[in-house]
Amino acid sequence: MIRSLQYVALTIPDMQEGARFYDAMGLEKHVDGEHLVYRCAGRVQDQLRLVPGEKKGIAWVTWGTRADEIDKLAAALDKAGVPMAPSPAAIESNGLWFRDPDGILVNIIVADPAPQTRPAVELNNPGTPYARLARRGAPNRHIDTRPRKLGHILKFSTDINRDAKFYTEVLGMKLSDRIGEELALFLRCGGDSDHHTLAMATSEAPGLHHMSWEMGNIDQVRMRAEHLLKTGYRDGWGLGRHMNRPGFTGGQNSRRIAHYGTDTKEEDLEAVFP
Ligand SMILES: [Fe+2]
Repeated sequence: MIRSLQYVALTIPDMQEGARFYDAMGLEKHVDGEHLVYRCAGRVQDQLRLVPGEKKGIAWVTWGTRADEIDKLAAALDKAGVPMAPSPAAIESNGLWFRDPDGILVNIIVADPAPQTRPAVELNNPGTPYARLARRGAPNRHIDTRPRKLGHILKFSTDINRDAKFYTEVLGMKLSDRIGEELALFLRCGGDSDHHTLAMATSEAPGLHHMSWEMGNIDQVRMRAEHLLKTGYRDGWGLGRHMNRPGFTGGQNSRRIAHYGTDTKEEDLEAVFP
């Protein structure tokens, strides 16, 4: 099964504008030929690759699996009649390359999710062991808060149930939740996964809806958002409009969040949260 979201590659028409945005997001950049590759500070794992292209879109999504499982995934793809695809130009041809039922290019490599080695910034908010005596109560606005990892991607799909069947039955993902029969659904990787690492929303064409970047806590979400606003970006939904994993909400656990969903089965949860 696929076990971790490694990185997302996006095609963008203006690399300078892309760099300006993801620099403002606080990600660390390096240049790889014509591509820009981003990582989170303190985490040795590519999380985002910007590829020059005529239109904005998903170039491909790279997932990680274990060395003893990649041949099983190749066999499962073969059994499902999914042909291998060539790797993109300028990319080392490692792992498996193929297209999902919606035509999105998918790559699976042998890789573990990298640990986050940067210490969390201590802030005075619920659920954190913050000693307040003789210490400043409010976060210093100059604290350097940066994304700690890429949490999930939500893609548009022309048939979410067909796609979910592929990602669960062939690639081993698990269904965490759904909104109605046709609107959206949320899948997680095997092992120690967030509530979802891949979500899909119904649309007329495949494409990117959003990516989720994990911050240390909700104060840091606000602080990074303020930085983006000052840099000239306008807010979209704002705080509180998007549910996420514990680091975001400050204390709730993933199981509890999963229970808030509409159609999550207890035995499904037990498989991941024994
Ligand atoms: Fe999301």
